[in-house]
Amino acid sequence: MKPSTPPPSNAPGLLIAFEGIDGTGKSSQIRLLAATLRGQGVAVVATREPTDGEYGRRIRALYVQRDTVSREEELALFVADRRQHVAQVIMPALAAARVVLTDRYYYSTAAYQGANGLDFEDILRQNEAFAPRPDLVLLLRIPVAEGLRRIRMNRGESPDTFEGEDYLARVVAVYDRLAGANIVRIDGLGSVDEVQARVLAAVRPLLAGRGPGV
Ligand code: TYD
Repeated sequence: MKPSTPPPSNAPGLLIAFEGIDGTGKSSQIRLLAATLRGQGVAVVATREPTDGEYGRRIRALYVQRDTVSREEELALFVADRRQHVAQVIMPALAAARVVLTDRYYYSTAAYQGANGLDFEDILRQNEAFAPRPDLVLLLRIPVAEGLRRIRMNRGESPDTFEGEDYLARVVAVYDRLAGANIVRIDGLGSVDEVQARVLAAVRPLLAGRGPGV
């Protein structure tokens, strides 16, 4: 049976999470979608995790020296960062009827910390206890080798400690196991515009009834 789209649960706002490994083009897709929605008069809040707050900064320091904390401590940092993000940014924006686009959310914790040996289902439960469930999760998919190629090409950087090939293959394996009627998998291969068309096709049904269509 084809799963039906559940009704938006974050009314009067709408919460859309972008997920996928690095190099899938999440941030470009969010930028384009935010511009399209704003052009239609929709009030958008574009945000991201890790945040720029206290915990987010500590997490970024980990990119360079990941082995200085245990995997449980690392998980605790991502969850603390998210608690702050939910309380200070996401909930107020939803209450103010904004469309919230977040570059990563708790599915990243399930996938990345799950790939690091923790139980991804426990991680989901822990997060779902305090974080609103997105109305839509756009899971962008590209092969790991392509993600790494794009990171090297676009950023002129070598991949960081969260970006080893074997590790990312395990991250993808967890992303592949995520299930839920709010999760839509999107092929991230092709031009930015081609992918944006797929993103819009997934977002449009949720926006119907919110005023001018996109
Ligand atoms: P990333 O999206 O690359 O952030 P930025 O581009 O702003 O530096 O996220 C940083 C890394 O953190 C990324 O490789 C995935 C990882 N991560 C987790 O391991 N768990 C999480 O819960 C989140 C949100 C990110």
